[in-house]
Amino acid sequence: MQDITGAVVADGQATPAALESGIGELLKTVGLRRVFSSGNSQVTALAGVNLCVTRGEMVAIVGPSGSGKSTLLHLLGALDTPTSGTVYFAGKSLEAISDAELTEFRNRAVGFVWQRHHLLPDFTAVENVAMPLLARGIASREALGAAHGWLEEVGLADRAQHRAGELSGGEQQRVAIARALVTRPLLLLADEPTGDLDEGNAGTIFELIERLHRSHRLTSILATHNLQLARRCNRTLVLERGLLVTGEESLVGRESASTRATGGRATAQEERG
Ligand SMILES: Nc1ncnc2c1ncn2[C@@H]1O[C@H](COP(=O)(O)OP(=O)(O)OP(=O)(O)O)[C@@H](O)[C@H]1O
Ligand SMILES: [Mg+2]
Repeated sequence: MQDITGAVVADGQATPAALESGIGELLKTVGLRRVFSSGNSQVTALAGVNLCVTRGEMVAIVGPSGSGKSTLLHLLGALDTPTSGTVYFAGKSLEAISDAELTEFRNRAVGFVWQRHHLLPDFTAVENVAMPLLARGIASREALGAAHGWLEEVGLADRAQHRAGELSGGEQQRVAIARALVTRPLLLLADEPTGDLDEGNAGTIFELIERLHRSHRLTSILATHNLQLARRCNRTLVLERGLLVTGEESLVGRESASTRATGGRATAQEERG
């Protein structure tokens, strides 16, 4: 199927047509605004965000509480619709694609990790990880096999048959990461993935995300309040009152994303060779 995900998900490589808006560019937003109305008042959560993310980049989004980080991640993952402006994924506007393609995008191209894991506590770890595949109609044997593989990747093979509710916070977040990646998405969106964890666990979970980001050639965007962890990403974007205050200006409409993205440092892609 030549759709927005089919074009890029099949072998992890975008077709030239899918990347028509820029070589190596996976995600772009132009003038992204999101205004929430409640009663008579309006809240401008995003006030016109222009952002460009290259394939293979690991980007941190930081900013004060209420600055729009979660709102931005929701729009990037097509969980919400902008008031105005456009999100482009692999060169295609998410606005312009059919509902079926949008569902396919959410289910296959993007993996989400949240601050709270949202696992089903009465199901086992392996069942939780298999869930997105089962929901897509994949046979249970195959889905559970893939889920086992992912639990191994996150170091929890020995907990596969434990109920999610019995696992520690850090272990639950590992299961949530495995669940986010079991569909082999290109893009990982994580909203304060270490926000509920103590410092030690936060570091371990971040390292796990870093490792999976590299080994699975993901493009990852993480909202975080942890500046120490943010610094370890290729690039940090700062949101304030719904606007990017750094990172934006240097990104849009310029030539090489790999150098502009990191201020001269090598990108993840370059590091991978
Ligand atoms: N569904 C909604 N209805 C009304 N206002 C909303 C809604 N979602 C977010 N907002 C408002 O939009 C602004 C941005 O919220 P958002 O959750 O994106 O911030 P954030 O940067 O993720 O904050 P935090 O660091 O606390 O998670 C806030 O002022 C918030 O109150
Ligand atoms: Mg938030």
